[in-house]
Amino acid sequence: MEIIHISAECYPVAKAGGLGDVVGALPKYQAKAGHYAKVVMPMYETKFLHNNEFIEDFKGTIYLGNWELPYTIIKEKNNILGFDLYLVDIKGLLDRTGIYNYDDDTERFMAFQIAVMDWMNHWEHHPDIIHCHDHHTALIPFMMQHCYSFKNKLEKIPSILTIHNAQYQGWMGWNKSHYLPHYDTWKAGLLEWNNAINSLACGVKCAWRVTTVSQSYMQELSWNSNGLENLFTHEKDKCSGILNGIDVEVWNPKTDTFLEHHYNAKSVVVGKQRNKEELCKQFNLDANKPLIVFIGRLVEEKAADILPNIIVSCMYAMPDSMNFLILGSGDPHIEWQLKNLNNQFANHYHVEIGYNEALSHKMYAGADFLLMPSRVEPCGLNQMYAMCYGTVPIVRSTGGLQDTVIDMGDEGGYGIRFNHAAVGDVHHSVYRAITVFNDSKKMLEMCRTMMNIDHSWEKAVGNYINLYNSVIEK
Ligand code: ADP
Ligand code: GLC
Repeated sequence: MEIIHISAECYPVAKAGGLGDVVGALPKYQAKAGHYAKVVMPMYETKFLHNNEFIEDFKGTIYLGNWELPYTIIKEKNNILGFDLYLVDIKGLLDRTGIYNYDDDTERFMAFQIAVMDWMNHWEHHPDIIHCHDHHTALIPFMMQHCYSFKNKLEKIPSILTIHNAQYQGWMGWNKSHYLPHYDTWKAGLLEWNNAINSLACGVKCAWRVTTVSQSYMQELSWNSNGLENLFTHEKDKCSGILNGIDVEVWNPKTDTFLEHHYNAKSVVVGKQRNKEELCKQFNLDANKPLIVFIGRLVEEKAADILPNIIVSCMYAMPDSMNFLILGSGDPHIEWQLKNLNNQFANHYHVEIGYNEALSHKMYAGADFLLMPSRVEPCGLNQMYAMCYGTVPIVRSTGGLQDTVIDMGDEGGYGIRFNHAAVGDVHHSVYRAITVFNDSKKMLEMCRTMMNIDHSWEKAVGNYINLYNSVIEK
């Protein structure tokens, strides 16, 4: 089966979060299962672009309103990712060092989607499936079916939309509707939600099938999806949840190229201790005390805004009992608050502001606990990486966290779960963590249980293939 993934991120080409990890892994494991998977994404100015060889595949021109934009499709030459990678180069719009957060993101991702459609419109064959990821690519199902220049060729190809995060929807005013290639205006209602063009809502209406990245999050969307609750309730028959896997070729403490001390479930005690000592030395922390880490975007969705109060509350109530190490970037106010604590709790606390792939691996390996108080967590990969590295997850019971972590108080449990993204709940969970840390037998038992859980992609690949087959047969 030929599957075309269209996405704004793909690890290791460009990653801002879990979307990148998923689009870097799912096609690889689909290819290993004998399918022909391709990824199409914007050409940003990233290290990957400059360190690898590309060949030109196609040149064309699109229009964004009256703006004429030449584009080039380049293809990675040596299949080093395990699938064909195509980058869309649109000079002046996509060729920047960052992925998101530019004022003209609407124009950038609109142009990207139109270029992908225009290019595919020139293909001589039809792929079996178009698989779009998140709002940056969610207008594609509409364009395939209702834009006059594409529909003859593309409307019969089944499209799937996977929602990795429904908080971000790609809203734009109707004054930008002229960016879309000429479309059947009778169908304008498909673009709209709450008096604006809403890319994600449009994708949910137009894609043949919609998936999200855990079953619990799928259910949550009907009562908590940033304004789209009624839409998800209405469209529930074509929606399903497929839990992400993790790429065990990248995330494996036995082989991780970012680690100096490798280990497996047998050597976990010594292996983790070595990684922990190194990390504690680097950040001047106390390696004899439990090390609790947070890795992620410093935004409300991740409940990063309560981190400063959690740290203050735990440090005062349980002095000298634990270390906190935080890695992340995001809201400047949260960054500032967290940085201010660096001096106040030196020797037991440190925050590193920024994005650092290598450090994140070292933290999964060296930490005793990983904290995820997320208000919204569609799947969450961090807790799965942590478990794979024998690090006990402390998570709020929501979305994918709820589907992947069993509380240590329950039968067969290995993690710590709490209900509210509130200082009190997290404080109590940290207390439970410190208590269990002193019970080395229980800690080892939990480590080994977690490290033996199968989080590989095979199961999810099978579920996606079944879903594709169900629409192809139609
Ligand atoms: P989300 O995609 O919502 O941010 P996920 O849990 O799915 O959350 O995935 C987050 C991914 O991004 C993980 O691979 C995590 O290690 C990584 N990550 C997040 N913030 C950072 C950071 N500051 N430095 C390095 N890696 C990070
Ligand atoms: C999103 C979600 C996260 C999920 C990731 C990959 O960024 O916030 O929970 O794990 O996508 O699907």
